[in-house]
Amino acid sequence: MTALSVSTSSAVSLRADAVVVGVAKGPKGLVVAPGAEAVVEAFEGKLAEVLTTLGATGAEGEAVKLPAPAGAKAPLVLAVGLGAAPEGAFGAEELRRAAGVAARTLAGTKKVALALPATAADEVEAVALGGLLGAYSFGSYKGEVAKAPVAELVVLVERKGSKDAKTAVERAAAIGEEMNRARDLINTAPNDLNPKSFAAIAQAAGKEHGLKVEVLDEKALAKGGFGGILGVGVGSANPPRLVKVAYTHPKAKASLAFVGKGITYDSGGISLKPAGHNETMKCDMSGAAAVFAAVVAAKRLGLQVNVTAWLALAENMPSGSATRPGDVLRMYGGKTVEVLNTDAEGRLVLADAIVRAGEEQPDVIVDVATLTGAMVLALGTRTFGVMANDEALRTRLHETAGAVGEASWPMPLPADLRKGMVESTVADLANMGERMGGGLVAGLFLQEFVAEGLSWAHLDIAGPAFNEGGPHGYTPKGGTASAVRTLVRFAEDTAAGK
Ligand code: BES
Ligand code: MN
Ligand code: ZN
Repeated sequence: MTALSVSTSSAVSLRADAVVVGVAKGPKGLVVAPGAEAVVEAFEGKLAEVLTTLGATGAEGEAVKLPAPAGAKAPLVLAVGLGAAPEGAFGAEELRRAAGVAARTLAGTKKVALALPATAADEVEAVALGGLLGAYSFGSYKGEVAKAPVAELVVLVERKGSKDAKTAVERAAAIGEEMNRARDLINTAPNDLNPKSFAAIAQAAGKEHGLKVEVLDEKALAKGGFGGILGVGVGSANPPRLVKVAYTHPKAKASLAFVGKGITYDSGGISLKPAGHNETMKCDMSGAAAVFAAVVAAKRLGLQVNVTAWLALAENMPSGSATRPGDVLRMYGGKTVEVLNTDAEGRLVLADAIVRAGEEQPDVIVDVATLTGAMVLALGTRTFGVMANDEALRTRLHETAGAVGEASWPMPLPADLRKGMVESTVADLANMGERMGGGLVAGLFLQEFVAEGLSWAHLDIAGPAFNEGGPHGYTPKGGTASAVRTLVRFAEDTAAGK
């Protein structure tokens, strides 16, 4: 794993394999961002000129390498684009992205110094987090990894405020390392990550970090009446699990429940997905990975709030024992559901987990799920949808996401779409409703399982959870750890009484 540290050394005197400077698009061409003064000096004031000659513009995503001048300890300079030069300070998201591009570009390099414009603690945190996330690579199955991820990232800061900078970098490590762990879980092949092995990983993390972990296996699930989770998992040779990971703070004034969809593989079940729709369905546990990462990060940050993560784990497979379209499941809490399409399985495992989470009367329930293709059609692959039974909570989550650099959009739960779903002829509900607005229908289904009086929100991360395109900013190909930062910031704000 990439190590993070801070240093007050100058960008030319720190021994490193490369030094990263920021460049931006000014009104009259490329400008070098603050933080790189020592490097500019080593270039006798001509760094902007040299970079312009090389074709650099300062555009976001740009990365230009050049040899360092004599006198600099690092042999290589990398200029990364920050986009348009702002009036005031650079935004945190611009810093995260630039640091991410730098760390990814410099894979194969051991020690990298980041001389980016970061003075305030939140700027330092952004650079550290972007760097750590950008350095991520999943190489588990490759005989030979082309380029090893950067081993050590040093964030260069001013002497003034360097103590705060150290705290900021520690915060970035807590969040970034757990996000990278979530990415590993998402990227792990589904023949290696199943409900049982995921539960074992949660148990090990619980031991490591001092979190209380409870696992319900298939026997306990049957005894408890968790018909949704069992119904989805019953067709698989890998039985389902419900995992509770609890972090409590002795002075907590609020309790949060984060519920994650953990389908370790979604084949669609008997309503089998066609080829072309199942190749990436190992990512269907991204919600569970996100809530798991968030609760561990909350513990590492010592937040003064109780956070419980609920991981609803099952593998959705077709077989002679699988749930059929037409079957009726008795869900945890007693409601019955007619399964019209076994590919609408996420809502079934989540329903059980939401009812169970609600029994503990948390102040807020947030579920996170790669729930519907419809949400991807609506919002694209980089934005998640936010639904809630509480408008203030929906607004707050949307704003929280924005504050940490995650794209989201509030979506409605229109009452008229409820009809098609509750019109099962044999059960209380059907797991399908109208085709149009499918993402909202799924949200409405979940809402049926939220106990009276509880505040609940639903994040449909089907688009941003798994990046099938090329890497960008601090986002790699594959698992992204979508929603983790939003959940962590939400918990932090709650701890702060916001
Ligand atoms: N896991 C899928 C949703 C999904 C789609 C996630 C694309 C990530 C990328 C979910 O279980 C599913 O199959 N949903 C169906 C629901 C339908 C049958 C009502 C869908 O969206 O087509
Ligand atoms: Mn499905
Ligand atoms: Zn699914």
